[in-house]
Amino acid sequence: MAARCKRGLLLGAVLLGFLQASSTFEVTDDSGNICILANFSVHFTVQYNTSTTNENRTFSLPSDAHVLKNVSSCGKEKEISQVLAVGFGHGHSLHLKFEKNNSSYVVSTLTFSYNLSDTSIFPNATGGKKEVNSTTDIKAALNTTYSCHNKNAISMTNVTVLFSNVTLEAYLTGNTFSKKESICFEDRSTTVAPATTTHIPATTSQAPSPAKKDPDVGHYNVSGAHGICLLAAMGLQVNVTYSTKNESITSQVFNFPQNGSYSGSCDNDTVTLNLVSGSTTLRFQFVQNASTDKYFLQGLGVNISLPSEAKGNRIAADNNTLSALKATVGKSYRCVAEESVWISGNASVNLFNVQVQAFKIPGGKFGSVEECQMDENNMLIPIIVGAALAGLVLIVLIAYLIGRKRSHAGYQTI
Ligand SMILES: *[C@@H]1O[C@H](CO)[C@@H](O)[C@H](O)[C@H]1NC(C)=O
Ligand SMILES: *[C@@H]1O[C@H](CO)[C@@H](O)[C@H](O)[C@H]1NC(C)=O
Ligand SMILES: *[C@@H]1O[C@H](CO)[C@@H](O)[C@H](O)[C@H]1NC(C)=O
Ligand SMILES: *[C@@H]1O[C@H](CO)[C@@H](O)[C@H](O)[C@H]1NC(C)=O
Ligand SMILES: *[C@@H]1O[C@H](CO)[C@@H](O)[C@H](O)[C@H]1NC(C)=O
Ligand SMILES: *[C@@H]1O[C@H](CO)[C@@H](O)[C@H](O)[C@H]1NC(C)=O
Ligand SMILES: *[C@@H]1O[C@H](CO)[C@@H](O)[C@H](O)[C@H]1NC(C)=O
Ligand SMILES: *[C@@H]1O[C@H](CO)[C@@H](O)[C@H](O)[C@H]1NC(C)=O
Ligand SMILES: *[C@@H]1O[C@H](CO)[C@@H](O)[C@H](O)[C@H]1NC(C)=O
Ligand SMILES: *[C@@H]1O[C@H](CO)[C@@H](O)[C@H](O)[C@H]1NC(C)=O
Ligand SMILES: *[C@@H]1O[C@H](CO)[C@@H](O)[C@H](O)[C@H]1NC(C)=O
Ligand SMILES: *[C@@H]1O[C@H](CO)[C@@H](O)[C@H](O)[C@H]1NC(C)=O
Repeated sequence: MAARCKRGLLLGAVLLGFLQASSTFEVTDDSGNICILANFSVHFTVQYNTSTTNENRTFSLPSDAHVLKNVSSCGKEKEISQVLAVGFGHGHSLHLKFEKNNSSYVVSTLTFSYNLSDTSIFPNATGGKKEVNSTTDIKAALNTTYSCHNKNAISMTNVTVLFSNVTLEAYLTGNTFSKKESICFEDRSTTVAPATTTHIPATTSQAPSPAKKDPDVGHYNVSGAHGICLLAAMGLQVNVTYSTKNESITSQVFNFPQNGSYSGSCDNDTVTLNLVSGSTTLRFQFVQNASTDKYFLQGLGVNISLPSEAKGNRIAADNNTLSALKATVGKSYRCVAEESVWISGNASVNLFNVQVQAFKIPGGKFGSVEECQMDENNMLIPIIVGAALAGLVLIVLIAYLIGRKRSHAGYQTI
């Protein structure tokens, strides 16, 4: 495995107080052909403990970042996966595992290993080596260059890896980037609406703007080896409560755009949906209970950056003991009324006009509907009013018929 590294393209752009380094990495096979070319800048946010406090450290990929030749790989013999491993500092590394099918390639697993004993990055930290991983939505058509200038945050336990200005290609042919590009979703939406992008530049606040209306309904579907396992239509709004720099506590809601990118997975017992928009991520995890024939939302996670008035940069909240959106397997859950799912003291998610079905989805279409309690209550009022009206009509009709019969009887006696 001969892998070379061309690195240290310092961009010298100062952003959010950090020096932005955009580095180029390449992985080559035994004959010297390049199979992975990548150019990106990365920010890491790591939450760790000292003996007395809890700290959040944000740092970018330093200029000593280099390709780890012994770990990176173009894929031997029958293996289809390729690996780019980048090492930096004292024992930290970022590991991108690529996989492909007939038409596309994807970073199927991102792994970040960090060493809390490195006091230059983690002052006063307790604890040693840690490793976290996640799936990603970094995906492109084969023989095209993946291009994404906008930020893409990948959240893992206690760690957020924030990519930006990404240009990369795996399964490369011809030793250089393909001319044709696969533009990531985030960039496409900014080119479609350039007028609005000037107000949300990536260089100032990463925070989304507060919601002024109900969120638009997004449509999501997730498929696995046995076909489709999740179908969902819902409007999403994140509600965060945070303390501001002037020591007051405030709540703010942010609409999650209906066209954010998403990914997911189907397992026998869990169905996952991950949504990404800018640096905001949402994670839904459904489980099914075989003994009761019900499925429900058990896990909900949100990771969102806060407005500049906030004391902290982000809120990451996660709850895996929920019992929301419950319905019978094979049927769909629906709630027209706004429904709020509480995650933690500082975050909740408001759902608008939701219809969702997980696990068994015969024919790939929503099954019969199980309405939420709130809708049923709301429907009760029109039903009562309707019943009262029907009753009134009936009384009038009976009175009329009786009256008619009486008058008939009257004629006959004459
Ligand atoms: C890497 O990206 C930076 C910023 O996007 C760019 O200036 C630089 O030319 C790129 N390097 C290569 C080799 O493409
Ligand atoms: C830090 O320590 C506190 C209390 O000991 C614990 O509750 C928390 O989970 C720890 N956090 C991390 C990131 O290790
Ligand atoms: C790869 O090489 C680095 C040093 O270059 C070493 O620290 C690491 O243990 C090696 N990893 C493997 C899997 O051999
Ligand atoms: C590390 O701990 C020492 C002593 O407890 C303290 O003086 C110092 O400020 C700490 N450093 C950081 C960066 O927290
Ligand atoms: C990802 O992390 C989980 C738990 O932390 C571990 O079980 C799994 O093997 C890891 N996956 C990869 C591909 O490293
Ligand atoms: C990609 O390019 C290679 C070499 O030019 C070619 O053999 C292969 O069929 C192409 N794949 C696709 C999906 O276009
Ligand atoms: C992450 O943080 C939690 C609590 O904040 C802590 O209990 C746990 O040990 C940390 N996990 C890792 C892998 O660092
Ligand atoms: C991305 O690149 C552009 C221009 O090449 C630069 O202005 C911007 O600061 C970079 N953004 C990040 C987050 O590195
Ligand atoms: C947001 O959450 C706070 C605290 O839980 C709550 O008081 C507020 O009503 C919520 N706002 C919305 C619009 O859901
Ligand atoms: C999942 O279910 C399928 C079909 O019922 C079965 O063949 C497979 O072994 C199961 N997988 C696991 C990990 O339980
Ligand atoms: C670090 O971030 C976490 C989650 O975003 C937050 O709960 C915690 O209060 C932060 N800690 C500090 C010291 O800012
Ligand atoms: C998760 O939500 C449940 C139900 O709302 C609540 O009882 C529990 O305390 C929450 N867990 C965490 C870790 O916040």
